[in-house]
Amino acid sequence: MSTNTADIRPPANRRFIWRAVTIAFAAIGAVALLSCATVTRTVVAPPEVPGAEFVGTHTCAECHENISRDFPTATHAKLMAKGTNAFNMGCEACHGPGGIHNQSGGARNTIINPSKSPEVCFACHLDKRGEFHLPHHHPVLEGKMSCSDCHNPHKSHAIMAGGTSLMGDNETCFRCHTVQRGPYVYEHEASREGCLICHKPHGSVNQKLLSERNATLCLKCHFQQQTAVGQIFIGGRDHSPFLSRGTCWSAGCHEAVHGSHVNSSLRF
Ligand code: HEC
Ligand code: HEC
Ligand code: HEC
Ligand code: HEC
Ligand code: HEC
Ligand code: HEC
Ligand code: HEC
Repeated sequence: MSTNTADIRPPANRRFIWRAVTIAFAAIGAVALLSCATVTRTVVAPPEVPGAEFVGTHTCAECHENISRDFPTATHAKLMAKGTNAFNMGCEACHGPGGIHNQSGGARNTIINPSKSPEVCFACHLDKRGEFHLPHHHPVLEGKMSCSDCHNPHKSHAIMAGGTSLMGDNETCFRCHTVQRGPYVYEHEASREGCLICHKPHGSVNQKLLSERNATLCLKCHFQQQTAVGQIFIGGRDHSPFLSRGTCWSAGCHEAVHGSHVNSSLRF
């Protein structure tokens, strides 16, 4: 049995590669641009709040003490420009210019709250818009959940489990998908590798956000052995008559794919 953990992370060149943020100031100081170094160079303008100017993260800290205190540990704190000439853009990269919000003492509708719309995130994470438009997706665009249900905007790693602990990633999912947590009498050990071994977190062309639509999903761990012509052994049993009937998890085969309370072969 070989487990392919490499499958759960996208290749490095497909990920958003961050190198530097430079902030260019117009003479009056009204225009700030974030220049993100991605695969194709893009210049990303922060979200706008009509009539408002940028005030800087230190101003936000006056009223939002806790968030500001933790923020240096956040993935996105790396967006903060450093150096003498730099203007501290950390919070406003996602929330837009806070001038009016600040002057009004935090009045409603004076600042952008990305929990209501993922548009701010899409400005930098262009590819994510596409993923959430795939036929099967988590209902973020529908307003039923937000990026921050699975991502930390304000502290530590943006991917909740830090992108390292696989069980930690599962915890993110268990908050809403309690059934898959088990415990099961017969656990499917695949889940120890993380939900993302079989599911795409954002969206997929396949039903149930599956990363593969057919037996390939299972065969990447369950070694397939061809002994005689027409015989395919999986788990020590000839599966050739079964494989033509449907997916491994349909047609009354391994329907309890996450784990079972009654059947060690995860049939139901
Ligand atoms: C003078 C105090 C003050 C300053 C400065 C301030 N805020 Fe606020 N902010 C508030 C108050 C008060 C609220 C409303 C809190 C509530 O209702 O729980 C608020 C609410 C918010 C909200 C939620 C808005 C919503 O509609 O859900 C966000 C986001 C926010 N602030 C971000 C910022 C950012 C970013 C900065 C810096 C650019 C900032 N704030 C500066 C006082 C301030
Ligand atoms: C990566 C984008 C991003 C950055 C950078 C960011 N925020 Fe937020 N902020 C969010 C998101 C997303 C939410 C909605 C959180 C939720 O759904 O609970 C939010 C919500 C808030 C709220 C509303 C109260 C709350 O906790 O829900 C406040 C206040 C706030 N942010 C302040 C700040 C301050 C101050 C900074 C800088 C120190 C900052 N934010 C930096 C994305 C960001
Ligand atoms: C101004 C551009 C910008 C905005 C706006 C922005 N991000 Fe990011 N985000 C980045 C960059 C750049 C990185 C890469 C940072 C790094 O790897 O050091 C990143 C990293 C991430 C990561 C972690 C990726 C990894 O591999 O560790 C997640 C998750 C993420 N962002 C989600 C969000 C969400 C959710 C929002 C909206 C609330 C958002 N981002 C808004 C630029 C942005
Ligand atoms: C259901 C939970 C969930 C939701 C909702 C979600 N994400 Fe993610 N996201 C994840 C997980 C889990 C990973 C880690 C993927 C990995 O390690 O391969 C991730 C990875 C990322 C990454 C870094 C790796 C990559 O794929 O480029 C970015 C950027 C990101 N998400 C942005 C977003 C944005 C923007 C939104 C909202 C529009 C969002 N995510 C909503 C779970 C979620
Ligand atoms: C904040 C709650 C929440 C979190 C966290 C969450 N999900 Fe979901 N998930 C949903 C909702 C809502 C749906 C859509 C259900 C529907 O349309 O009936 C969904 C749908 C799904 C589906 C498709 C179900 C179907 O019947 O088509 C899968 C698979 C899934 N999520 C896996 C995951 C994984 C893996 C994670 C962790 C990376 C995760 N979810 C995190 C709320 C969540
Ligand atoms: C070995 C692959 C695999 C792993 C690992 C896995 N799933 Fe699934 N999951 C599936 C398959 C296959 C289906 C479709 C089942 C069906 O259509 O009957 C599914 C369906 C789902 C559904 C839709 C409801 C249902 O049962 O049909 C949710 C929600 C879900 N998975 C969440 C999770 C979560 C959360 C994790 C991590 C704890 C996880 N899955 C781990 C393969 C897997
Ligand atoms: C990440 C690797 C991985 C993936 C992907 C995976 N499995 Fe498993 N599976 C395991 C491990 C590990 C075991 C426990 C060791 C064993 O029995 O071979 C197991 C056990 C099983 C068992 C119990 C075997 C028995 O009778 O003792 C069944 C049935 C099973 N898997 C079906 C599936 C199906 C169906 C899929 C595809 C939806 C799948 N597996 C995908 C790793 C995986």
